[in-house]
Amino acid sequence: MFIDNGLSDIFRPEQVLTDQSSLEKYGQDWSQVGAPNPLAIVFPESTEQVQSLVKLANKAPFSLVPSGGRTGLSGGAMATNQEVVVSFERMNKVLDFNKVDRQVHCQAGVITQQLQTLAADNQLFYPVDFASSGSSHIGGNIATNAGGIKVVRYGLTRNWVAGLTVVTGSGEILDLNHGLVKNATGYDLRHLFIGSEGTLGFITEATMQLTNPPKNLSVMVLGISDVASIMKTFQALKKNIEPTALELFSSDSVKIVCEHKGIPRPFDTEAPYYLLIEFENDSEATESLVLETFERCSNEGWVLDGVMSQSEQQAKTLWRLREDISESISHYSPYKNDLAVKVSKIPVFLERLDQLVEEHYPKFQVLWYGHIGDGNLHLNILKPADMEHDVFVEACNKVNPLVFKLVKDLDGSISAEHGVGTLKRDYLAYSRSDSEIAYMQSLKAMFDPNGIMNPGKLFK
Ligand code: MLT
Ligand code: ZN
Repeated sequence: MFIDNGLSDIFRPEQVLTDQSSLEKYGQDWSQVGAPNPLAIVFPESTEQVQSLVKLANKAPFSLVPSGGRTGLSGGAMATNQEVVVSFERMNKVLDFNKVDRQVHCQAGVITQQLQTLAADNQLFYPVDFASSGSSHIGGNIATNAGGIKVVRYGLTRNWVAGLTVVTGSGEILDLNHGLVKNATGYDLRHLFIGSEGTLGFITEATMQLTNPPKNLSVMVLGISDVASIMKTFQALKKNIEPTALELFSSDSVKIVCEHKGIPRPFDTEAPYYLLIEFENDSEATESLVLETFERCSNEGWVLDGVMSQSEQQAKTLWRLREDISESISHYSPYKNDLAVKVSKIPVFLERLDQLVEEHYPKFQVLWYGHIGDGNLHLNILKPADMEHDVFVEACNKVNPLVFKLVKDLDGSISAEHGVGTLKRDYLAYSRSDSEIAYMQSLKAMFDPNGIMNPGKLFK
């Protein structure tokens, strides 16, 4: 059925969907927080069409929820309240590639992996990477300032956005920064839209910076003896190598991945924690230094066993131990935490979090994994098979204030890279002061005076 509340003035019939299965599909993201209940799904093809839609929504009125690859984990793309979902699936074109500037100008619906491939085809590199890169959209990555596995070397999505085109909540098109490297002309509004989760306006086009690819990557997985040894090994490694990735995962995470994906354990020795280090193995000197560090950590008793990739294929298999965790545990309806502290505070954070988990989650299986190299830890609580979902969520919610208080005491973040959405909205004050939140709300009111852009996300 094609609904006509002004949408037909903007879109052709095939650009609007209202059938039940599409409403369910496009009305939710991977977080599945709440029941999808949108009014319609629209598929704009240009910035101008998005602009017309925003102008219509202001008058109609109805609210808009942006939808990219819907891989978000905080409910940022959930449409539960008769909103019109704006899918960027048809805005998937690369508009320009400039070899001199090493920049790609593309529409927001380009898939992250497509950008990575385009870069590789031109002997260049787009360094932001994560398990969902085959589905997530560049626009969504920018709207959530996505991080992932290479942040320790290359930083977050923010670092790679050279220019943005956005449609604000009042329906204005802003062309921000024009791909410039230097531009000291006042407030950089581009950065305001990065990580704003579609609450100020929608990103329709972006100019993404590329760089040189890393050389001869090797992957090493180490079995670590206990919580205290994680940081000791981490520091020994960081002293000698500049890793392109430095990841942590617990023994239970490995078990689940190996069971679900049928991949072999990295080695026979059982270890409670594992560190994965990826580095540029560009000289014999580097490799000797890495092996010396491994020996030293083993002699200290911090490292129980280890393996280093001998081929690209082996490196890929080792990466799967970490990259496949999220998908493998999805069968257990995990309650997800995405926490960050400064790297120097990781030892005390791990110690206190470990105590807290022991004390408050005695009946649940708790998985640790994350991007330890940049201070980001994902703490996942798995739902027991015989427990009702609501009872489980309520039990986790009871412990949340304790976890978030610990994060606050350490000046950390309650959402390092997954965004706030609806899932972390009520906990924002654990990471942001009242004044900061008030300023953020004023900015929202300025760019989106009628509150139609992704309402209920970030704040109520
Ligand atoms: C990851 O690091 O695997 C992703 O952030 C997804 C997740 O936390 O499950
Ligand atoms: Zn992550």
